[in-house]
Amino acid sequence: MADIFDNIITLPNAEVQKQTKSLVGFQSKFDRIYSNLKLLLDKDSLSDWSKKHHKVDLPIISQLKDKYPLIILAGDAGTGKTISATSIADKMTRELKKEGFFLKLSTRVRGEGMHGEMGKLVNDAFAELKSQAGKRRLAFLLIDEADAIATTRATGQMHQEEKAAVNTLIQKIDEVREMDGRAILFMSTNRLHFIDEAILRRAAIILEFKRPTEEEYKELYVQSLRGLNLRDAELSELAKLSMKEGEPVGYSFSDVRLKVLPEAVAMAYPSKPLSFDILKETINNVKASPEIK
Ligand SMILES: Nc1ncnc2c1ncn2[C@@H]1O[C@H](COP(=O)(O)OP(=O)(O)O)[C@@H](O)[C@H]1O
Ligand SMILES: [Mg+2]
Repeated sequence: MADIFDNIITLPNAEVQKQTKSLVGFQSKFDRIYSNLKLLLDKDSLSDWSKKHHKVDLPIISQLKDKYPLIILAGDAGTGKTISATSIADKMTRELKKEGFFLKLSTRVRGEGMHGEMGKLVNDAFAELKSQAGKRRLAFLLIDEADAIATTRATGQMHQEEKAAVNTLIQKIDEVREMDGRAILFMSTNRLHFIDEAILRRAAIILEFKRPTEEEYKELYVQSLRGLNLRDAELSELAKLSMKEGEPVGYSFSDVRLKVLPEAVAMAYPSKPLSFDILKETINNVKASPEIK
């Protein structure tokens, strides 16, 4: 069973919490998700609230049951979808004072799944999700790069087996809702327009991930270059250059973290200190990864 997941984390988790602190713009995304999901996760408290303030169970509360604990993370490559899923799960577990279990469905196995195993894979993943979810324990499942499984059934080229896998997935999403807030499903995609309509409709929230704004680049540099004592104007200039004006797109978060900064360090190491000039030169040399459409 374990081998269909490439990541199994018990929550709350100190390492994930540390990672969360390094994510620029995380809090506002989390707030949006949490305010939506807490309604689905704690229906008893919701009913108490309704009776306290309105003396009755408002009809809107039973209507909320039509929502699904499905969060779609959509956006370009390197914008933080995968990394944010664990952080959201960790923070949510903490806020709700529960324990949790995070499963990430393996991309590798899913590749093999293309040859007809996909339906079985989806079944196995959800079986594990169910067995992990408990009264005090939230279970999270991330289907990363979900396009491969959840693509629209409307496209003509789809094989029978793939259609069956999408149907299985939809049925499983319905079952997760019956688990009364004990399980939460994430799906990430960089091609939202490929995702099946029936799945989109079920999502409690579709969260869009974008490349950083100029302010966010600056925050990234402030955070990553602490101790270098750059002046504020220099940090602003690095941020502005990262927008790559005149080119189709600026850097993604991962371009900055995993390409620009390591290359700048490589230019300095071991003979000289990292400096504003080195950083600036690196930014001028490193291209932004092209946008996925
Ligand atoms: N909000 C963010 N703040 C800082 N760094 C980020 C952020 N989002 C992503 N990153 C960096 O980009 C890398 C790639 O993120 P990832 O979640 O794999 O992107 P995606 O799944 O959207 O392709 C992360 O490992 C992290 O270093
Ligand atoms: Mg990813």
